[in-house]
Amino acid sequence: MQLIDGKKVASEIKLEIKKEVEQIVKNGGKAPHLAAVLVGHDGGSESYVAYKIKDCEEVGFKSSLIRFEDDVAEEELLAKIDELNNDPDVDGFIVQLPLPGHIPENRIIEAIDHKKDVDGFHPVNVGRMVIGLPAFLSATPYGIMELLKRYSIPTSGKKCVVIGRSQIVGRPMSVLLSQKGVDGTVTVAHSRTKNLESLCAEADILIAALGSPGFVKANMVKEGAVVIDVGTTRVPSTETKSGFRLKGDVVFDEVSPKCSFITPVPGGVGPMTRVSLLQNTLLAAKKEIYS
Ligand code: GUN
Repeated sequence: MQLIDGKKVASEIKLEIKKEVEQIVKNGGKAPHLAAVLVGHDGGSESYVAYKIKDCEEVGFKSSLIRFEDDVAEEELLAKIDELNNDPDVDGFIVQLPLPGHIPENRIIEAIDHKKDVDGFHPVNVGRMVIGLPAFLSATPYGIMELLKRYSIPTSGKKCVVIGRSQIVGRPMSVLLSQKGVDGTVTVAHSRTKNLESLCAEADILIAALGSPGFVKANMVKEGAVVIDVGTTRVPSTETKSGFRLKGDVVFDEVSPKCSFITPVPGGVGPMTRVSLLQNTLLAAKKEIYS
């Protein structure tokens, strides 16, 4: 069994990005600029956004954090998005999800200029990804593809099972795995899937992205399978300073002995998700996806 060290790979990529930013600035260019919009004070969102800002600092990006209270009006948020869309100093920006119930997320996502949509959530980016055109890719699937590449994990003709069909992980993951050149044979499983356990047990590559801690057990995993654990549920813990710890969708101790490769939680997919946002922001600054 080989552990897929997302933390290490992410550090390597961050170093590559940092060097590139130094070069850009040395040549008289400006540092890439990521803006993050945060609505309310959800604990998870607060810490995700704080990490994103810290990551920017680490690689030499400029970052801006724009905060609104829970009761912000949709119009006010849309006005800020319009401002960011038209601010030539901002290369890319994100609106942290989830948003309060009174704000329709899809309307917000569609208001973002797709050329600055470094989350890859805008329908233009999703559509371009589906038909294989250059696009900003959703951070978690992008990070997982990068891990498969950097660990030289074969995907061609492999049976891939993705558990979960979310817009930002499961669905795009299934598209990327079946893309030409990756060539996986993909099944998307979800809450209505029948015989899920036996379906998973046939997978060469199993992606657990349902957000249910400890869902994947040893009987659901084939001997020699590659297991990617996307779960990051916060559970209370007395052993950490923050008072919680992250728990994956896979029961690591019983599943890992059966695997050829497996990602741990924490230190697997999470750091790669974070670094993917930096990669997208750099691509935006360099105008590599859109001119
Ligand atoms: N909420 C959970 N993950 C994400 C993400 O990748 N981007 C944004 N904007 N919100 C999220």
